[in-house]
Amino acid sequence: MKRAPVYLDHAATTPVAPEVVAAMQPFLSEVFGNASSLHAHGREAAAALDEARATLACVLGARPGEIIFCSCGTESDNLALRGIALAMRKQGRGHHIITTPVEHQAVEATVQQLRDVFGFDVTMLPVDVHGRVDPDAVRRALRPDTVLVSVMLANNEVGTLQAVQEIGSICRHAGVPFHTDAVQAPAWLALDVRELHVDALSLSAHKFYGPKGVGVLYLREGTPYMSPLTGGGHERGRRPGTVNVAGAVGAAAALKLVARERQQQARRLQTLRDRLIDGVLASVPGARLSGHPTERLPNHASFVFEHVDGESLIMALDVEGFSVSTGSACSSGNPEPSPVLLAMGIPREWALGSLRVTLGYATTESDVEAFLHVLPRCVAQVRAAEQIVF
Ligand SMILES: Cc1ncc(COP(=O)(O)O)c(C=O)c1O
Repeated sequence: MKRAPVYLDHAATTPVAPEVVAAMQPFLSEVFGNASSLHAHGREAAAALDEARATLACVLGARPGEIIFCSCGTESDNLALRGIALAMRKQGRGHHIITTPVEHQAVEATVQQLRDVFGFDVTMLPVDVHGRVDPDAVRRALRPDTVLVSVMLANNEVGTLQAVQEIGSICRHAGVPFHTDAVQAPAWLALDVRELHVDALSLSAHKFYGPKGVGVLYLREGTPYMSPLTGGGHERGRRPGTVNVAGAVGAAAALKLVARERQQQARRLQTLRDRLIDGVLASVPGARLSGHPTERLPNHASFVFEHVDGESLIMALDVEGFSVSTGSACSSGNPEPSPVLLAMGIPREWALGSLRVTLGYATTESDVEAFLHVLPRCVAQVRAAEQIVF
């Protein structure tokens, strides 16, 4: 009997946890009111929304008024970057933004638009071979006209963690708003917005066992901000549009769940991840770990292989019953090497052969052993096929 495919792509998305589905269920049927309506149906929805907001705030160490619901992680990044940069400029504070070349496209493309269309000046900080930014480089890049710094917490392609707390403290000291894209973090790392010294932090529920299509933006009270979306006064004027109550309830239930499971799962998966990394490096010739060896997400293993087409490898592994990805799910279908890997100094020929294996709650030791069993054969097969083509 053919066994079910093994899912090892939790950085792309996670399943919705059964308790999250249960928490959302009433809001997809009988409790359907618009949370902005004044009548009983509306008040019932508004009460659920208030509770979800309070739960998220409590887990993140924020105040409920600092939590904004939106449609996804991408939107949360967009709101933070455009919302803060444009408000700061309107206040005459300047037009300089600092970011990194390893950000997700949601940040990268937004900063590019702020530069090309809105005329902001952008400093790209260098990263080392592991994809890390030196906090001192942030300090040195700050200018009197800097209006925003954005550095991600955990990289989606290579799992590397940034020194966000230290960077946040440098920015706070300089009085410059600091945003972090923490989309990959909540299931595996404790997040406290006060300890991190962030002014804005972006999350996406589907990355932590919640539903797709729900984003969260933490925006510290007093941070200059103008909504880049125009419309009604929802979310205290910071994100117009009728709020997805079921989604907000699901995001809160999911964050509560991962906060409870985090320590135990992170410890368990880190052991499996290290076994996976050691196994791959020992059994596949021409393989390198990408990202930081230790300062990385506990569930995240990523590699580059010499003379391997990454997409062919994903397809070969798919045939063997493993769902994995090359770097980022969002850029799949794109044969160009990842700009993130190139920014880390990985040669183009290696960057074309990237593989990301991200573990989750359902991953077992036997899944990892089975993966290690088939990978060397799949890599050899893809290399041989390429030699025939060329
Ligand atoms: C680091 C990071 N930021 C932002 C996003 C975008 O999130 P969403 O898919 O919810 O738009 C992703 C998704 O892969 C991500 O990994």
